[in-house]
Amino acid sequence: MRILLGQNLPAFYEKAAQLFLESVAQAVRERGQAVVALSGGSSAKPFFSLLAGAYTRDRIPWSSLYIFWVDERCVPPNHPDSNYGAAKDLLLSKVPIAPSHVFRMAGEMEPASAAAKAYDQGLRAFFKLSKTIPTFDFIILGMGEDGHTASLFPKSEALLEKDHWAAAPYVDKFSAHRITLTLPVINNARRVLMMCPGASKSDSVKLIFQADPASTNTPAQMVKPITGELIWMLDQESASKLPPDIRYKAEHF
Ligand code: 6PG
Repeated sequence: MRILLGQNLPAFYEKAAQLFLESVAQAVRERGQAVVALSGGSSAKPFFSLLAGAYTRDRIPWSSLYIFWVDERCVPPNHPDSNYGAAKDLLLSKVPIAPSHVFRMAGEMEPASAAAKAYDQGLRAFFKLSKTIPTFDFIILGMGEDGHTASLFPKSEALLEKDHWAAAPYVDKFSAHRITLTLPVINNARRVLMMCPGASKSDSVKLIFQADPASTNTPAQMVKPITGELIWMLDQESASKLPPDIRYKAEHF
């Protein structure tokens, strides 16, 4: 696991974009394609905008890139809460990616369990796998103040899912279902970037790095890629409550 600690938000997102470009380029070199999964939330939005920027957009091999989602709200794609909708507005509508390379979760589908099953089947079809867990080249995650990631919330049964690659947990906090990739898929990725900027994350970041994993039910602590790389991306605000020894170990940029 690496901890990257950015001096400010512009540097934070430029670094995230750089890591994305590197991962995509390496995947295309090695396997002829790059398969990524995007999260939603506010932390991801500046990242999408940066990728759509002229400098970065023209360095991404869009014809070799396939985009999936980490999670989705159970709303239509044009709903303001849609993770796909946010990525489409800020990124996909501004870059030359073919619709056939974009695999959104059907948030409008009811029941949500059917949407999760459809996504699970879509993953198996795309990766041409039946039992083997798919390997994404790059997964972007965020973390909520309660330590959730993807749509895997504390105490959720979806945290225990081992056989399905997508689930549709009911989230009490929102009185709604969500659709989410499950931990076996997330932890099978080649690179996972946990983007955690901002003061609102400082308490949960402190918990993640200080608490005994066995003593908490923080889903973000359960993100442990089996062979892939986990990168925690923090900024000065989200890292502000970390002890000096952990801050010292971080790669400052
Ligand atoms: C979602 C996200 C979720 C998000 C965290 C952090 O659907 O909301 O996928 O997991 O990454 O909640 O959200 P913020 O970036 O808005 O703090």
